[in-house]
Amino acid sequence: MSISVVILSAGKGTRMKSNTPKVLHKISGKPMISHVIDASKKISDDITVVIYHQAERVREVIEKEYKDIKFHIQDVENFPGTGGALRGITPKYNRTLILNGDMPLVTDNSLKNLIDGDSDINISVIKLDNPSGYGRVVIENQEVKQIVEEKDCNPIQKEINSVNGGVYSIKSELLKRYIPKLNNFNSQKEYYLTDIIEMAVKEGRIVKPIFVPEEEFKGVNSKLDLATAEEIMQRRIKDSLMLNGTIMHLPDTIYIDINASFEGESIIESGVSIIGKSQIINSHIKANSVIEDSIIDNSSIGPMGRVRPQSHIQDTHIGNFVEVKKSNLNGVKAGHLSYLGDATIEEGTNIGAGVITCNYDGKAKYKTKIGKNVFVGSDTQIVAPITIEDDVIIGAGTTVTKDIKTGSLAISRVPLKIVADFFYKFFKKVR
Ligand code: UD1
Ligand code: MG
Repeated sequence: MSISVVILSAGKGTRMKSNTPKVLHKISGKPMISHVIDASKKISDDITVVIYHQAERVREVIEKEYKDIKFHIQDVENFPGTGGALRGITPKYNRTLILNGDMPLVTDNSLKNLIDGDSDINISVIKLDNPSGYGRVVIENQEVKQIVEEKDCNPIQKEINSVNGGVYSIKSELLKRYIPKLNNFNSQKEYYLTDIIEMAVKEGRIVKPIFVPEEEFKGVNSKLDLATAEEIMQRRIKDSLMLNGTIMHLPDTIYIDINASFEGESIIESGVSIIGKSQIINSHIKANSVIEDSIIDNSSIGPMGRVRPQSHIQDTHIGNFVEVKKSNLNGVKAGHLSYLGDATIEEGTNIGAGVITCNYDGKAKYKTKIGKNVFVGSDTQIVAPITIEDDVIIGAGTTVTKDIKTGSLAISRVPLKIVADFFYKFFKKVR
């Protein structure tokens, strides 16, 4: 589609009360600005992001994820305001869509509605019970006549509940002509983009209001807004997963990152968090487990299991209070209370309760390799680096400090001593 997109993200975001630039705050694991870019990419191949405050930080995060985004640094000192943001931008196509970087819930469908039609300008309008804080849209005969910022409203204008959603599509030649003509004669001494409406109306141009859903167009300005937007995004992610075949118990208690992917039919129980680019394939994730940046394939995890980044769990059962980190488990059972870090464990191996891979000596991390059909007895410590070959039995309570060859038994135990009647002597009691 031949439309240019400009995303305004130069504002300071004071109400966020944060050292992190507003548009870099995350919703479901992805920065707000990236959500907006994703929706924009579905309709345009000419996207410019306007930046200023912590410009380099914002640019870096965007460039890491996208290759073809243009940046424009606003001259905020001389031209503050949404009108100032557009100065010096030359869109590639003859229509431009302007939106804000703090609208992570906007969808490409709604953006398409704003582009459609042959008017000179389309303006997003939200109907709000409480319009306070927004620019009011003066509509006559289904055309927009003016947008008045709240701080510049007279008492009658203040009562208008059709507000400016802050997204516009406009013929690029009008933008080019109007922007240099803007002034800052208003209560905030800013260059208001919204003043171009009056210029267009004076020239007899058609300015159409496009009514848009509040949920998508309300900006995120505070951490309260951030949490509200997160809830909405989570609902969207989970609804779509369930419609595609994933079973969820009490979905309101489940968190799923937008970068996670699901294949086949999985069951996700209550209180589960799936973080980062995790892949869940035909698996059962039981209550209160946490999976981060890992692949879980044909396996069951938890309840209360924890799988940390870069793990690949295949045809495996992991039970309660088992923590796995950067490990490959293929056809393994680890039922209870273990730490398996930097380990590769193969088919048919059973990890007893309380087994620990001691992968860290205070300076560096070391690897553990466990082959096929190994029985690791409960409460075993494996002091890495260690290789345990196939068909090995390790007695409960063993501290493994040497590699173990195929077919062996390994056991390290202090001999058990039993002193008869010691209890009665110690407490001076008669039996
Ligand atoms: C703006 C609109 C208002 C509308 C509201 C919708 C104007 C004058 N007013 O008000 O009618 O109801 O959005 O949310 O446009 N930005 C820059 N450079 C700047 C100032 C802002 O890039 O110098 C960016 C911000 O980062 C933000 C967007 O523009 O993404 C909107 O700025 P904001 O200050 O939130 O505008 P409002 O005052 O809320
Ligand atoms: Mg503002």
